[in-house]
Amino acid sequence: MNPPGALANFRVVRILSGIQPSGALHLGNYFGMMRPAIELQDQGDAYYFIANYHSMTSLFDADERRTNTLDVALDFLACGLDPAKSVFWKQSDVPEVTELAWLLSTLTPMGFLNRCHSYKDKKARLADGDEDKVNHGLFAYPVLMAADILIFDSNVVPVGKDQKQHIEVTRDIAAKFNNQYGETFVIPEPRIREEVAVVPGTDGQKMSKSYGNTIEIFGPEKPIRKKIMSIVMDSRDISEPKPDAEKNTAVQLLKLVAPPEVAKEVEDKLRAGGFGYGDLKKALFEHTWNYFADARKKREDLANNLDYVNQILKAGAEKARVLATKVLDRAKKASGLD
Ligand code: ADP
Ligand code: TRP
Repeated sequence: MNPPGALANFRVVRILSGIQPSGALHLGNYFGMMRPAIELQDQGDAYYFIANYHSMTSLFDADERRTNTLDVALDFLACGLDPAKSVFWKQSDVPEVTELAWLLSTLTPMGFLNRCHSYKDKKARLADGDEDKVNHGLFAYPVLMAADILIFDSNVVPVGKDQKQHIEVTRDIAAKFNNQYGETFVIPEPRIREEVAVVPGTDGQKMSKSYGNTIEIFGPEKPIRKKIMSIVMDSRDISEPKPDAEKNTAVQLLKLVAPPEVAKEVEDKLRAGGFGYGDLKKALFEHTWNYFADARKKREDLANNLDYVNQILKAGAEKARVLATKVLDRAKKASGLD
């Protein structure tokens, strides 16, 4: 039996992650972030949100944001986010994060933000003369992300590898605040699953909306099949053995959606030679389509029950807001605002 008072000291692990409503979700989002987040909901206190404030740095169409937000809610719930286990909400329904972001920004050296890859990459991809498209929000986005994490006393943040640097910035900002104003924030840890740290897209680079190389989780069969059949392959003859089969993009994706013995058999056939890339891609399509069959059915049901979905987000926001207000008050007291 626990000694008296032991439970009061028992700290639940709080898991938190967010995803932007900036377009249809893809296999990279699913295997890199959503599935790990869904699996973690049994291992602690799970908090997941739709990062609609973040989407404002690069999406400027109000209707599209509204539609994407609902789509992400449907996608996440269909894939297994369980509202009985996880708190799930829309970021802007907990506006306290923007206030905390201001407090944090005053302790964030410009150098931290200048070094962030996400900002540097977006800037580098702009054409000459388009520099104005880099808005302040995009530059300051890691500070808002730090606020998202710190305002819930989060311990663990499941994300894909591209977000690792942002969690490091969050840790640095939290440590600075704690040093300056006394122990206020929990220092979070990233949780990155190595086997899905970078899911490749149809061109072999990291799958990303910004690279136009995605395979969507949901949507009609035809375009998904077409995208899978368009995965770029080398020009070696069908009969040639492929000793480097593990480097093949379709093989890497197949390992995610097919049972291990099936993926191994296909990989072995490629190694031996005589197995064509067309058959490889067909197998990948069948397994991808089947992998999401249950989720697809669930998504249809949810789409016919939007009141229920909106109710989940509203209840999630109410719960999240109670905790956010408590941590924001702690930071305001510590820094002499209250
Ligand atoms: P995108 O690059 O398509 O814009 P986001 O930046 O919105 O995707 O990513 C949302 C979440 O999905 C993040 O946690 C990110 O790390 C993860 N993620 C995105 N693409 C991949 C990928 N190709 N492999 C692994 N994780 C990914
Ligand atoms: N920046 C993340 C992305 O683009 C989304 C995000 C916003 C997030 N706030 C967060 C992820 C807090 C984890 C924790 O994918």
